Amino acid sequence: MYPSHRPRRLRRTAAVRRLVSETSLEPRHLVLPMFVREGLTEPVEITSMPGVFHHSRDSLRRAASEAVAAGVGGLMLFGVPAEHDATGSGAVDPDGILNAGLRDVAAEVGDATVLMADTCLDEFTDHGHCGVLDEDGAVDNDRTLQVYAEMAVAQADAGAHVISPSGMMDGQVGVIRESLDVTGFEDTSILAYSAKYASAFFGPFREAVDSQLTGDRNTYQQDPGNGREGLREADLDLAEGADMVMVKPAMSYLDVLRDVASLSDVPVAAYQVSGEYSMIEAAVARGWLDRRRTVQETLTSIRRAGADIVLTYWATEAAQWYRESLGIR
Ligand code: PBG
Repeated sequence: MYPSHRPRRLRRTAAVRRLVSETSLEPRHLVLPMFVREGLTEPVEITSMPGVFHHSRDSLRRAASEAVAAGVGGLMLFGVPAEHDATGSGAVDPDGILNAGLRDVAAEVGDATVLMADTCLDEFTDHGHCGVLDEDGAVDNDRTLQVYAEMAVAQADAGAHVISPSGMMDGQVGVIRESLDVTGFEDTSILAYSAKYASAFFGPFREAVDSQLTGDRNTYQQDPGNGREGLREADLDLAEGADMVMVKPAMSYLDVLRDVASLSDVPVAAYQVSGEYSMIEAAVARGWLDRRRTVQETLTSIRRAGADIVLTYWATEAAQWYRESLGIR
């Protein structure tokens, strides 16, 4: 009698497949990144990311409500200011576009979801780097930390539940933790972008934040070939007090995600970035991929590799698909 092992038995019906499914993808696992742009009265679609919008302050509130109604676990806000300068002063200004957007969304949805803020200067600087520069034009780690510390407090004050340092400066988590603690925001969490690679997949995001960058981020973001270093970065962030850690991008770094998930004693997030989104949308537009199946497969894979939380531009839609599949409106 051959074969003696028949794994196909557990694939015979939809019911048995559902029973033995190892990985779930629920709305609560998903976080929606959103862009609010200064000076807009109507939302404007981002050319490099079809289906993703630069929001006006009004449309941001509406889109946030829609995401919350769909049941997403959180929202991650990015701001696109009208003016850029050398130190990214719009980032620390309480009336800067990101802080204004945070206030708006906090007022709209309150504690019904988890409101996260990207804590980084690249959207705000006129040179497009994630930090401030020294006289030689190099990114100055320690001076940047002081700005992040201030920016984090402004974001917490604007209503962010979670501060998310994404600039890959050494010591950023520790400095932000301390500045939140001494200003009375000891209950504000930190989601550290811990293992963040110098990735080509951030390409479409550059348009999304109107990036002024010439050159690259290779002196602070990680070399795509380095897995062990990703673990070290996560370890350091945990030691500095990160409440959650993140791996980014997701799909090309599932091995790093798996390794970080196995060592982390806090929740682990992964960010399915702009390039991952846009390449699938581009193939779908040509009729080469089935949109819903492809998106669900990528998100499930990221969960399977160890992500508790997945940041994705499809968050609202994927959450709606889930509700639809259960017959919930
Ligand atoms: C930095 C930041 C970036 C992204 C998220 N936070 C850009 C970068 O580091 O170059 C990329 C997100 C995406 O590509 O979807 N503020």
